[in-house]
Amino acid sequence: MTKYSINKENKKIDCLIIPIFEDVGLDNFSKNLDKDLAKFVAKVFANKDFEGKKKQSSFFYIDSTKYERVLLVGLGKEKDLSIKNYKEIIGTAFLISQNKKYNKLNLVLSNILLKKFEVKRLVQETVVAIEIATYAYDEFKTKKDDKIIRLEEVNLLGDFDKTITKNLQTGIEEGFIIAGGVNFARHLGNIPPTIMTPTYLANEALQLAKANKNIKTKVLSEAEIEKLGMGCLLAVGRGSKHETKFIIVEYWGTDKDKKPSVLVGKGITFDSGGLSLKPGDYMIDMKFDMLGAASVLGAIKVLTDLKVKKNIVVLIPSAENMPGGDSYRPDDILTAMNGATVEIKNTDAEGRLILADGLCYATKYEPKEVIDLATLTGACMSALGLEKSGIFTPEDKIVEKMIDLGEAIGENLWRLPLGEEYSEAMKSEVADIKNTGGVGGERYGTASTAAAFLQFFTQDKETGEKNYPWAHIDLASAIYGSKGKAHIRAGANGFGVQVLVEYLRS
Ligand code: BES
Ligand code: MG
Ligand code: ZN
Repeated sequence: MTKYSINKENKKIDCLIIPIFEDVGLDNFSKNLDKDLAKFVAKVFANKDFEGKKKQSSFFYIDSTKYERVLLVGLGKEKDLSIKNYKEIIGTAFLISQNKKYNKLNLVLSNILLKKFEVKRLVQETVVAIEIATYAYDEFKTKKDDKIIRLEEVNLLGDFDKTITKNLQTGIEEGFIIAGGVNFARHLGNIPPTIMTPTYLANEALQLAKANKNIKTKVLSEAEIEKLGMGCLLAVGRGSKHETKFIIVEYWGTDKDKKPSVLVGKGITFDSGGLSLKPGDYMIDMKFDMLGAASVLGAIKVLTDLKVKKNIVVLIPSAENMPGGDSYRPDDILTAMNGATVEIKNTDAEGRLILADGLCYATKYEPKEVIDLATLTGACMSALGLEKSGIFTPEDKIVEKMIDLGEAIGENLWRLPLGEEYSEAMKSEVADIKNTGGVGGERYGTASTAAAFLQFFTQDKETGEKNYPWAHIDLASAIYGSKGKAHIRAGANGFGVQVLVEYLRS
């Protein structure tokens, strides 16, 4: 666990990190640095060895009594810097340092940064960026040298006056809690599917309840799932030797008569496609098909650690989608928990099926709102790439708030459409709805038709009246897959945790 401190006189520091704006330079905080160092940085700037351009970075060894190594990182132009960019830049600096095996680091926070993003937010996001950057999934590395060293100490340096120390402290504490939830979600996602089964996921949810007495977790078995009539969830898991689970995590942080917000997360622990088997290349990374579940668990962990005064329920339908003699088939007609019938066209469109039963179950809570998170469609990934996730909802208020809050912490959402034409495309000849469909062609508009399928289960099946306000997030960006980035290592990135936290705590 990293120890964070403020303006601490450290005896032995591996490296001092100084973020600098291209158009502000040193002026602003030079008075905080020791004289030798300030002179040195001024010289580097004057010689144009380092100009503060966005994402530029330079290591220097210097002849100072206090610091031996300095890492200058460029923030670009002051007015252009977003929180997303800032977090990437800080994350990159810490990840580089950690790779060099430095684990005691100082970071300068200039006044201009503190003013631009506000003290608490800046410090919170700084800690989140550092903790995300330095997280590594290396449990399966057997050589000691291949393991990543853990960050030990971070000291924040700045011209902080007394009035802001409280904000600095809360920023650190909350940033640490938030990053804890993000890395928890990433960790669940990174665990290989031999281990990460629905039962394993359920045990993680039970663990949360053990650690916090305000959390209640209930795990439904296949027999109970069947009894509830969740025919879609049950069918999806039937080809797997691992038992299907329905996981319920409740947090009552305020009066029980206040309606809860319900989060539903897709928990497919491996998606082979089932009998509609994925081609080999497309099956890679499908252990990440439970990242919706991971993110909602991460979010509720954070919200309970922050002790927010809200009622929140997490629902996770969890199964493994495998081919086998007992698998569900294309042409099957399934019955969901609300009695609606579903014609199966493709067993690889399984996420929407398990979510359908989750969305039906949510009705029990008469929820204030329901938000589902799912790695639902390749189409959403094709549309938005890995930097944004799609959001689908008939609720303008929810979407505006989500997009704004997402932007404020650097998780970007982009609204994609629902509507009559997409719902129309999901009508079946033989059942109430079918599980695939496109607009103007089988492959067109399929992120939206998938969302329209979900929408069907948020409404009364007779009248079409909506049961509750609902939004769906298609986590196109929830993985970085095998590549990784300068500010984050390969694997799951925990997208969704932060935006859900900000949304539900405000
Ligand atoms: N898990 C996938 C979606 C996915 C693909 C997420 C790639 C992340 C990266 C989902 O279950 C799926 O297979 N969807 C199909 C639906 C199709 C059969 C209608 C898809 O997107 O191709
Ligand atoms: Mg089974
Ligand atoms: Zn699938």
